[in-house]
Amino acid sequence: MNTKKLKIGLFGFGCVGHGLYEVLQQTPGLDAEIKTIVVKQKNKSRRLAPEWFSYDKSEILNDAEINLVVELIDDPDAAFEIVKQALCNGKAVVSANKKMIAEHFEELLELQKQFQTPFLYEAAVCASIPIIRNLEEYYDNDLLRSIEGIVNGSTNYILSKTASENLSYQQALQQAQELGYAESNPRLDTGGFDAKFKLLLLIAHAFGIVLQPEQIFHQGINKLGELELNYAREKGLKIKLKARAFKNEAGKVCAFVLPEFVSKNDKFYQVDEVYNALQIEGCFADKQFFVGRGAGAYPTASAVLSDISALRYNYRYEYKKRQEDNEMEASENIFLRVLLRHPREASDEVRSKFLDTEELYKNKEQAYTIGIITLAELQSTLTTEDVSAVLMDLPNSAEVSQYSEKFGEIAWLQE
Ligand SMILES: NC(=O)c1ccc[n+]([C@@H]2O[C@H](COP(=O)([O-])OP(=O)(O)OC[C@H]3O[C@@H](n4cnc5c(N)ncnc54)[C@H](OP(=O)(O)O)[C@@H]3O)[C@@H](O)[C@H]2O)c1
Repeated sequence: MNTKKLKIGLFGFGCVGHGLYEVLQQTPGLDAEIKTIVVKQKNKSRRLAPEWFSYDKSEILNDAEINLVVELIDDPDAAFEIVKQALCNGKAVVSANKKMIAEHFEELLELQKQFQTPFLYEAAVCASIPIIRNLEEYYDNDLLRSIEGIVNGSTNYILSKTASENLSYQQALQQAQELGYAESNPRLDTGGFDAKFKLLLLIAHAFGIVLQPEQIFHQGINKLGELELNYAREKGLKIKLKARAFKNEAGKVCAFVLPEFVSKNDKFYQVDEVYNALQIEGCFADKQFFVGRGAGAYPTASAVLSDISALRYNYRYEYKKRQEDNEMEASENIFLRVLLRHPREASDEVRSKFLDTEELYKNKEQAYTIGIITLAELQSTLTTEDVSAVLMDLPNSAEVSQYSEKFGEIAWLQE
């Protein structure tokens, strides 16, 4: 089969950009070479000779010899301008920038269609785990029930280190940054935004639904407090930040990002440090589990490399599952069993939001409530810094119908 020779214009030479350079050096058979690298800061010391670098994006975007732009910068707004211009100029693009892609998904789809240029982004979700192309090519929308996973390497690293080595949150975050696992703005990771952007990409390729980031509820790990950490320790549980999307019985997609308690017999329990994992459930295939490094120079560069390799064969996403209808379930109809930590004085108010309470605990200042709550009510309680939730599990369908009825009664009584 004829393959295309690729001349690469690389944007960014940080953790992943440098990783890609090294990985390409070790794969000479790929027939892809970097021609120009564009970076930002002129007076920064570099690991390559100055002739490699430019600070002017047009040196890549207007170079007719460059047929592939690899965008690996940490500024999502500048990244969008680069990717847009590259696609308009007929260049194939590879990116790892989930925030940029999630925030401009529709526009990027249009650009690909209009200019017939491929845009690949396997590295944007779970770094080394090959999930986007799998969802795109292998799994039919109708056969997929759910996708759930640990999709953010740096928060998993922080949670693992604070639990197993008794490091403080700040120490663990600093280590994650030093190892190149964290975003330049760590709040993107710890606040759960990064996991949400990845979930949006997963939903687009799993179920064919393109969402806006605001449509997916997220809570990160930055609000976790001693009460819920102690609860986990005492019960032999771990807390993991998980992204979930699943189809309910009405065929609608439910999605959110929340910290979750996982028990020893749960596959996600063993997924520690910078590892990510995804579980896909199909109607007939049952469950499949993918695990791999979710951040870091080489694991992320390996996914970029795989996209580069696929472009030699003119591979592109076809978005075959794309549906114009937004089949999202309303948050009022999504039921969760959670532990909600809140100020002691707010106990009665918080309790009134639950459809059913199973456990109540109070100390001098704080309290927690465990029970069933709708996602809509949960969202409304999580607006202040002193309230935090950890998912216990999802009630089964029998419980859901019981609570739906109960919820209907409550709504009726309030009328
Ligand atoms: N690190 C990971 O484990 C990981 C995993 C998955 C995905 N990603 C994604 O990969 C991308 C790169 O992450 P990273 O960790 O490699 O970031 P990084 O180490 O902070 O490096 C960022 C690079 O971008 C360059 N840059 C920033 N603004 C620029 C602009 N306007 N024009 C040209 N260059 C610019 C910087 O230039 P200077 O060198 O001049 O400062 C630097 O070389 C991000 O989208 C990130 O979300 C990272």
